[in-house]
Amino acid sequence: MNEAGRPSFSLCRTSELQEGERRKFVVNGNEVLLVKIDGEIFAVEPMCTHDGTDISRGKFDPVSGIIECQKHFARFDIRTGIPLVGPFGADGDTQPPLRLYKIRIENDHVHLEANQEWGVI
Ligand code: FES
Repeated sequence: MNEAGRPSFSLCRTSELQEGERRKFVVNGNEVLLVKIDGEIFAVEPMCTHDGTDISRGKFDPVSGIIECQKHFARFDIRTGIPLVGPFGADGDTQPPLRLYKIRIENDHVHLEANQEWGVI
């Protein structure tokens, strides 16, 4: 539960994540990738929307926030999930966005909300 009384899962302390770091968690079978960019923490499902590849180990630029799928090289803005380039250099508009998770920072902890837009975790 968070302070607002809503169910959530504490993932880590905000201070544990270093600038530009990626860290993956599994919560009730859901993979969650946290990244810290310019002091802000983002949470995304690390599954490429082209063919389901785990992109948590893809090439990542912590300055621009762009992550590249290692399988067919689609590129996404990890802060928004928006695809910039599709597989094999195709137009990014052909690719669905990555799924973002709702998180909340409370008492120096990153909490993953149990109620996401697509359902309960
Ligand atoms: S699986 Fe990621 S670009 Fe194809």
